[in-house]
Amino acid sequence: MYYSQELIEEVRVKNDIVEVISGYLKMQKKGGNYWACCPFHNEKTPSFSVSGSKQMYHCFGCGASGNVYTFLMQYENYSFQEAVKALADRAGVPLPEIEYNEEMRKRENRRARLLEVNKEAAKFFYYQLRSPHGKVGYEYLKKRELSDETMHRFGLGYAGKNGAELVEYLRKKGFEDEIIKEAGLASYSEKRGMTSPFWNRVMYPIQDTNHRVIGFGGRVMGDGEPKYLNSPETPIFDKRRNLYGLNYARTSRSGNMILCEGYMDVIAMHQAGFTQAVASLGTAFTAEQANLLRRYTDSVLLAYDSDGAGVKAALRGIGILREAGLTAKVINMQPYKDPDEFMKALGKEAFEERIRQAENSFFFEIRILEGQFDMNDPESKTKFHREIARKLCEFSEDVERDNYLQAVADKYFIGVDNLRKLVASYAAQTGLAKPVERPKSGVQSKNNPQENAKKSQRLLITWVTDEPALYEKIKKYISAEDFTDDLYQEVARKLFEELERGEYHPAKIISMFEDEDKQREAAALFHTSLPQLSTGQERAKAFHDIVLAVKKNSYEYYTAQMGTDMSALNKVIEGKKALEELAKTHISLD
Ligand code: UTP
Ligand code: MN
Repeated sequence: MYYSQELIEEVRVKNDIVEVISGYLKMQKKGGNYWACCPFHNEKTPSFSVSGSKQMYHCFGCGASGNVYTFLMQYENYSFQEAVKALADRAGVPLPEIEYNEEMRKRENRRARLLEVNKEAAKFFYYQLRSPHGKVGYEYLKKRELSDETMHRFGLGYAGKNGAELVEYLRKKGFEDEIIKEAGLASYSEKRGMTSPFWNRVMYPIQDTNHRVIGFGGRVMGDGEPKYLNSPETPIFDKRRNLYGLNYARTSRSGNMILCEGYMDVIAMHQAGFTQAVASLGTAFTAEQANLLRRYTDSVLLAYDSDGAGVKAALRGIGILREAGLTAKVINMQPYKDPDEFMKALGKEAFEERIRQAENSFFFEIRILEGQFDMNDPESKTKFHREIARKLCEFSEDVERDNYLQAVADKYFIGVDNLRKLVASYAAQTGLAKPVERPKSGVQSKNNPQENAKKSQRLLITWVTDEPALYEKIKKYISAEDFTDDLYQEVARKLFEELERGEYHPAKIISMFEDEDKQREAAALFHTSLPQLSTGQERAKAFHDIVLAVKKNSYEYYTAQMGTDMSALNKVIEGKKALEELAKTHISLD
C-alpha cells in the first residue's frame, strides 16, 4: 500500500458513497437504498443498489459490488491509488508524498511515463498519416473503405519508412531512450542506433477502457512479415486483460458483445454501427478477457474467421466463455472470410440478420463434431452419438440437459430414448451429471465440495454483515480460522476484529486489500444472496445449517492436515466439541 490504512479509511469516510455515485448515475431512493440502472452491464430496469448505511453498492443483475473505491476503479478504470487520489482531492484531504516508498513511486512514475510516451507516439503516427508523407497509409485505409471519421475515432496512424524519425521526435519531447525502449517503441543496435520496429505500417493504437493508449498494433503495407506487429507486454500493456475496442463497446448498450479476431474487423463493425465489437490483442482469447466482458453483458457473439483456424479459435472461445458463465453464440460469416469482408460485401442489414440467426454454441460444437465422422458408416455414426452424449453430460442442470437432449435428438434424427440411455450410461461410467440437489437452506451441494464449503463461508459472512448482532451468538463456535479459503479467512478475521471492538465498517475491509481482484472478491463476500425464507423458524434453521456447514468443513479440513501439521490437532479437538454442541443448540435470530 502506498498510503496508510488510516488515511485510506479517512478518505473513504469523507466520501459518502451515495453522493459520489450520484455524480455518475441517476439514482432513486427506494426503502433504505438508492437504485439505478447498473453501469457495469446492460439493463433497462434498475438492479444496482447503493446502501448509505453499509457504504457499499451491489448489482443484483451482474453481481458487481464494492465500496466507493472499487466503484471508481470499475467505472473509471482507475487503479486503487488513482481512486484514493481522486477521492482525496474531492474531499480535500491532503495526501502526503512521503507515504510512497521509493520503489513504489518509481514504479508508479514508470507507468505514468509509459502512458505518456505511448500517447506521444500515437500523436506522431496520427499526424504522419495525415501528412503527405503518410499518403501510402492513408490510401490503404481508404481502399479498405474507412471514413475519415472512423480513422479519427480509432486514432489510426502511420509509421513511415524511416524508423529513426519516431525516436527523434520522442527524444525531442523529452523521453529518455530507456522508456522508449521499455514501451517497445524502439530498440538499439550498434549498426543503426535507436530505431523503431514500427515502420512502413498503418498503426492501430490500443486503448484501455479509459481511452489511454497502452500499446500498438501495426499492419504492414503490402505482404511483409509479420502482417501485424504488436507492442510487447509492458507494465501498462497486459494483453490478457484488455480488449481492442472495449473503450467504446462498454457503453454501446446493445445487450451483447461481439468478439472478433482482428483489429480491422472491430473497426469495420463499429463503422457499420455495431459498436459492441471487440477483439483480443494478437493473442488467443483469455479467461481474464471473458471476465472483463462479463462486467458488461451475459451474452457474447463470436464473429471469428470462417476458416479452419477461426473455427478452432471459436471452439476454444466457447469453452472459455462458458466457464465464465457467459452464453456464447456463433455468427456465420459464410461465404466471407471475416466480419470486415462481410460488411463490405453485404452491409449492415445482412449482418443484423446474421446476428439474429447466430447459432447456439452447443449446436455449433456438435455441427463441427459431425464433420469428423462418417454418417454412412454405422460405427462412426455411433461414435458421433456417443460424443453427443458426452457433451450433454457437461450440463449439470437436469432441465437444461434434457432440453438440449431433445433438441439435438430431433436435429440429428436420433431416438430420444436411445440418446437418453446413452447419456445415462455415459454418466454412470464417468460419474458425471449426477442429479443436482437443491436443499432449501441455501447451502447448495454442488458436485464440488470445495466450492460448496466456500459458498457456506460466503453466506455466513454476508449474513453476519447484514445482522451484526448475530456475531455474539456464533463467536463461541466460529472463528476466522474456520474459513478455509485464504482470502475469506482474512476478511473474516478483519470483520470479527471490528465486531469485537463494537465497530462495523464492511466497506473498510475491502480497501485493506491491495490487489484489485482481491478487493472485488472480498466485496462479493458481503453480497451473497441469502435464502429468501418467510418464517423465523425457517430462517433460524437455514442459519444454523450454514454455521454447521462452515464448522464441519473446517473440522474436516484440519483433520486432513493433522498428518503433516500437529498444530491442527487443537483445531480438530475444538472443532469436534463445537460440532457436538452445535448439533443440539438452537441459535435464535431475534
Ligand atoms: P488476420 O490476419 O485475420 O487479420 O489476423 P485481419 O484483420 O483479417 O487482417 P487484414 O484484414 O489482412 O488487415 C487477426 C488478428 O490476429 C493478429 C492481429 O491482432 C490481427 O488483427 N495477428 C495477425 C497478429 O498479431 N500478427 C500477425 O502476424 C497476424
Ligand atoms: Mn481481414
